[in-house]
Amino acid sequence: MSQAPKTLRHYLQFTDFSAEEYGYLFERAALIKRKFKAYEKHHPLVDRTLAMIFEKASTRTRVSFEAGMYQLGGSVVHLTTGDSQLGRAEPIEDSAKVISRMVDLVMIRTYEQTKIERFATHSRVPVINGLTNEFHPCQILADIFTYIEHRGDIRGKTVAWVGDGNNMANTWLQAAELLGFTVHVSAPRGYEVDQDVAGIRSSESYKIFSNPHEACAGADLVTTDVWTSMGFEAENEARKKVFADWCVDAPMMAMAKPDALFMHCLPAHRGEEVEAEVIDGPQSVVWDEAENRMHVQKALMEYLLLGKL
Ligand code: CP
Ligand code: NVA
Repeated sequence: MSQAPKTLRHYLQFTDFSAEEYGYLFERAALIKRKFKAYEKHHPLVDRTLAMIFEKASTRTRVSFEAGMYQLGGSVVHLTTGDSQLGRAEPIEDSAKVISRMVDLVMIRTYEQTKIERFATHSRVPVINGLTNEFHPCQILADIFTYIEHRGDIRGKTVAWVGDGNNMANTWLQAAELLGFTVHVSAPRGYEVDQDVAGIRSSESYKIFSNPHEACAGADLVTTDVWTSMGFEAENEARKKVFADWCVDAPMMAMAKPDALFMHCLPAHRGEEVEAEVIDGPQSVVWDEAENRMHVQKALMEYLLLGKL
């Protein structure tokens, strides 16, 4: 029996759902993944349309949402800044009103979080954050699902974040506070996480380390990301110098627990934020992590449109 949502829900940051809802989503994603692997049809979103709006580049987010929506029986419209009126300064509010009259669901990858919030305020349909400067909730949804698949419950565990205090780091902090694990954060000076930007209530669920090796000590999961995120390309050369010691290599992984996993949201730069021996090594689960984007987002789209099934 469907419990279709009575009120419009958006997924703009990780804290938009409760721990109980995440429990449901992880179970649902596992079921959806099993059906996909068994070539079993799963078509709850027949006649539903997803609009995907990309203001930044993407491989995984584009393919996982597009393939996922078709596999759910729905269809997809793909827009970019360059090929729509969004790039010609049509107000975001007007775009939201128009697009959301024609589709059932919208996914947006953009710059400031305020932009996706303005879109959501004027949308008649659920809006999903496909990455902003501040957050990347769909990625952390996939990462935690991947952790659970490999190691079980993440509650009480330690995640080491090595690198930029960016959208991924902020979202890890939100997830830790909500789901009850700890993040050890090590970022170069000037690139630290900001609790206010991350939007978390207290500092209880994370610890700051100036030394990335110390951040990895005893960790169950070591994770990193590019030194320069999309939108910050002008800082690339300066960042390469500052981030040189924040490269996840074998000695850093050796500080973590022997069965620690390595994750990276990808795309990766071998020899910069991670050495090839780590990302291509036995502790790395990056390919499962990338694939799982599709399975968790199928569960997410189904939940936003139909509620618990
Ligand atoms: N991890 C991720 O979001 O990848 P894309 O930029 O390729 O979508
Ligand atoms: N922090 C990176 C993630 C890419 C998926 C960026 O924002 O570019």
